[in-house]
Amino acid sequence: MDPPGDTAAAAPQFQQRQMWMWPRREVFRREDGGFGLTRTRTTRACIFNIMTLSYICVILSLFILEPLARNSVQDHNSEIDLPRSRSDEQSTLIASIPSASKDVVSTMKIKNTKRSKVHWCYWRPHMFTPMNILRDEFGYNEEVDIKAGDDWDLIFGGYTNCGDKKFDWKMETGLNKFLGEQGWDKLQPHQVWFPCMGCKESYCNKRDLCLLMKEIDPNYCFSLPDDRDRLLENMRVAEGQSLKPQLWVLKEDYPDKHLHMGSGVRFIKSEMELPNKQDQSSGAFLVQPLVNHKMGSDTWKRRHELRMYVCVTSTTPLRAYTYTVTGTFASAQIDDANPVDPCSIDTHGILVRRELGCQINNTFSSYYSFDDFSKYVEITESEKQNFLTATNRLIGKVLLQSQPKIQNHTVNKGIATSGAACFSFLRVDFAMTEAIEPYIYEINEFPFANEKGHLGDVQRKAYRELFQMIGLDQVPIVASERSKYEMDHLGGWSPVVIDDVLINK
Ligand SMILES: *[C@@H]1O[C@H](CO)[C@@H](O)[C@H](O)[C@H]1NC(C)=O
Ligand SMILES: *[C@@H]1O[C@H](CO)[C@@H](O)[C@H](O)[C@H]1NC(C)=O
Repeated sequence: MDPPGDTAAAAPQFQQRQMWMWPRREVFRREDGGFGLTRTRTTRACIFNIMTLSYICVILSLFILEPLARNSVQDHNSEIDLPRSRSDEQSTLIASIPSASKDVVSTMKIKNTKRSKVHWCYWRPHMFTPMNILRDEFGYNEEVDIKAGDDWDLIFGGYTNCGDKKFDWKMETGLNKFLGEQGWDKLQPHQVWFPCMGCKESYCNKRDLCLLMKEIDPNYCFSLPDDRDRLLENMRVAEGQSLKPQLWVLKEDYPDKHLHMGSGVRFIKSEMELPNKQDQSSGAFLVQPLVNHKMGSDTWKRRHELRMYVCVTSTTPLRAYTYTVTGTFASAQIDDANPVDPCSIDTHGILVRRELGCQINNTFSSYYSFDDFSKYVEITESEKQNFLTATNRLIGKVLLQSQPKIQNHTVNKGIATSGAACFSFLRVDFAMTEAIEPYIYEINEFPFANEKGHLGDVQRKAYRELFQMIGLDQVPIVASERSKYEMDHLGGWSPVVIDDVLINK
């Protein structure tokens, strides 16, 4: 999937700006060719001066040396929060002057030039579309060597590919380790990390999604062994109520399993097929009802899958947005005699359909706009609008529900403390039930980044408009002003949670 040559081709070409390796690299070469002092030096000089001189020194470091030193990444050793707004910033700045002996000023400053210094954590399935947009349209074309001490603006591609080893899920090697040792709270306010963290420990794995969903809808999902009794009760009720047998989906998942493409999924008809007590104690089994989908008539009487991109632009506070819904249909029509015919249930890509031996007809395997999809499943304009609102509400609730865990993540905490930024580009796979309600199947932390056809068009626009919304093409914005900026530059994104508040109540 990923020939080794790719990674080599992406080897960063950095410019060595460091001139002297003094103990703390206090003198460095500026980009304009001049020399500068880093903050440590400036600060230390200040402390050694007598009162009167320190005043001059503060002024000096404020207005002359600090701006020169701003591009050095070396000594970011202050723990001061970013002020809440510009006017706060100004008043804090003024208040700080008489007693300024620390780096009060430096952390409040945010780089005032556009960003371009990037490190690609390269893996082909996460790249190309977003990478090309960032490089060619947003000016992220200066590859830097962060471990060698270069300043950086953006790290893109995903932590799994930021290590020395492939799939560094635990962030133990390479750049992941380097940044962790440096301290995530030592990031700088202009720096942008992709993606925001914690999703794999919450809604991006099926088990934790199940636990979150149970809080929203108790019959969405049952986790074994805890919910066994409740599940059996539900199975018996369903059996008594319905003429058709209710089918159940049995899944196995846990945070580091990284299930994809519908693997690890089995259909069962009765409690006899549940895993035995011993298997259940692994705590990785989930059971969900196989929900009936809203279907059209004749040739469109088939199950479907909907996809929607979701972005998170801040975890503390939470801000999340969704993009247009697209839909695809199963290869085979529903066959009541064989309700678990894989071709009538599976809605994954062409590859999986081929593997299953399904007959592929582009009419059904393509992705449609939500308008076209709605036409095929025969719903009205107001049903469409209600469904979209309900979908945004549900996604907002899931994301909010996971906040205690997400905000607790070391990387996210560091980003919040330092005033740096993160963003995620997720994809939710879901369906429209018979009752025209959304039913979430999974949320992908790193959706395949190079879709083709209609889905590809939507994806490119979604990436581009996300990058515009968070101002990647602008001079960096302080954390407290990002929320307003995003709301003023939504493009096609719809807000679902803004500063911890659910929008579609
Ligand atoms: C695909 O399905 C449509 C709708 O049933 C049908 O009209 C078309 O002939 C099919 N195409 C192929 C290549 O089988
Ligand atoms: C937050 O993290 C700490 C330490 O890692 C842990 O003990 C605590 O349970 C976590 N809290 C939540 C809500 O996840």
